[in-house]
Amino acid sequence: MKKDIKDRKDIEHLVNAFYDKVKNDDVIGYLFNDVARVNWGEHLPKMYNFWENILFYTGNYSGSPMIVHRELHSKNTMTKEHFNHWNHLFNETVDSMFEGVKAEEIKSRATNIAAVMMYKTLTPID
Ligand code: HEM
Repeated sequence: MKKDIKDRKDIEHLVNAFYDKVKNDDVIGYLFNDVARVNWGEHLPKMYNFWENILFYTGNYSGSPMIVHRELHSKNTMTKEHFNHWNHLFNETVDSMFEGVKAEEIKSRATNIAAVMMYKTLTPID
């Protein structure tokens, strides 16, 4: 039986494993590596905070993810398939490492946020 996500250390392991997959992924890797040229030393701690705040209400994330993804989309078109694939990789990573109430919660939050983010990113403003 796998354990549940219980603290920041677990979130760090999950986020690191997820982005290790993302970086090497044929469908969405290039958006991070070539389009955004992500500084991983900055991005990963932001993502630890983002997910820690969502699961444990720590209040330690402040950012504007919806704007960040719109900017990315304006540099290089993003699609429904990109978002669906992101979500698939995220769920697959969670399932390979954890199980329990918090593991279910992080997957359902990710799915819901991805749906809103996809809508806000891909819908033209005008
Ligand atoms: C195909 C889908 C996605 C792609 C390609 C993508 C890519 C990116 C990139 C390139 C950045 C900026 C990294 C940097 O240079 O600092 C970023 C930031 C971020 N992403 Fe995504 N993302 C995707 C989906 C998602 C989803 C579904 C979520 C949440 C469930 C998410 C949450 C975030 C957050 C919280 C940030 C940090 C924003 C900030 O505070 O600066 N992303 N993403």
